[in-house]
Amino acid sequence: MSEKNELPNYLDQDPEVKARFGRLKDREVAVQVNEIGKIFSGSGRTVEALRDVSVDVYRREFMCVVGASGCGKSTLIRILAGLETPTSGEVLLHGDPVEGPGPDRGMVFQNYTLFPWLTVKQNVMFGLKMTGHGGATMEGEARQWIELVGLAKFENSYPHQLSGGMKQRVAIARALANQPRMLLMDEPFGALDAQTRCHMQTHLLKIWRNVDITILFITHDLDEAILLADRILVLKPNPGEVAEIIEVPVPRPRDPEQLIDPIFLATKKRLEELIHPKKEEDEAEEPISMLRMAVGDKDIL
Ligand SMILES: Nc1ncnc2c1ncn2[C@@H]1O[C@H](COP(=O)(O)OP(=O)(O)OP(=O)(O)O)[C@@H](O)[C@H]1O
Ligand SMILES: [Mg+2]
Repeated sequence: MSEKNELPNYLDQDPEVKARFGRLKDREVAVQVNEIGKIFSGSGRTVEALRDVSVDVYRREFMCVVGASGCGKSTLIRILAGLETPTSGEVLLHGDPVEGPGPDRGMVFQNYTLFPWLTVKQNVMFGLKMTGHGGATMEGEARQWIELVGLAKFENSYPHQLSGGMKQRVAIARALANQPRMLLMDEPFGALDAQTRCHMQTHLLKIWRNVDITILFITHDLDEAILLADRILVLKPNPGEVAEIIEVPVPRPRDPEQLIDPIFLATKKRLEELIHPKKEEDEAEEPISMLRMAVGDKDIL
């Protein structure tokens, strides 16, 4: 029997995992995405970025969003952040319609968005000032969040003195300092090397366990999605539609050693099937074979 056939079914959950999902779904719904559609038009071009996307995210859930490039992941998260308006449908955050950005949602993007002229502490305090938090307690509050992301020794450093991973931790501390109900993360670890990324994943899970926050996290990295998420929203492109919402059957607490567990591999295989359907692979063959004709088979080593 091939190894492929020995993988368990990703839909089979052990009793502990099943009980965990039962508890998750008993919680209040933090975000309700109702039949969202988004059409971009302009410069004579119309793009249907999202069509009929619906999903409920539960309070304190960690949801990852995956899908091919251009399938509408960033558009979806920007709608949740209130930075884009949907063409149809609506988003409710704890029951209230999202009508623009607000301090109840913190965002962390792939590119470091710290102010280079401010220290770590000042960067974290900046968010607090913006939302009218603070006064005498502001510095103490900022310090608390900096400690949570493990950067106490660097509170007076400037961004250029920090590594990529440290900068992203400051960005997370700054987002958390406003005590949002929801953290929206768009490929936050995409620019980090593999080792730092792994460290950041562990760190983020630790923060999430200790803070009452719902996380929506976009990634291209399927291992990252399985390691972090309760559920994974898979989008398919042109237009961006829900392909499947997968309940990750890997037990918690998670650690990178689980990457080779059969249930982890079975989940990854399902994600790959959804994101790279067989048909697309076949079509991708063509340009390569055309190239081969141009180069000539004898030139291929
Ligand atoms: N402001 C905009 N104006 C016009 N088209 C846009 C705009 N923003 C996004 N799009 C289009 O909408 C589609 C979805 O884009 P989006 O950035 O949401 O994809 P994505 O899944 O985040 O991709 P990636 O994985 O590459 O980041 C794409 O076809 C993109 O060209
Ligand atoms: Mg994107």
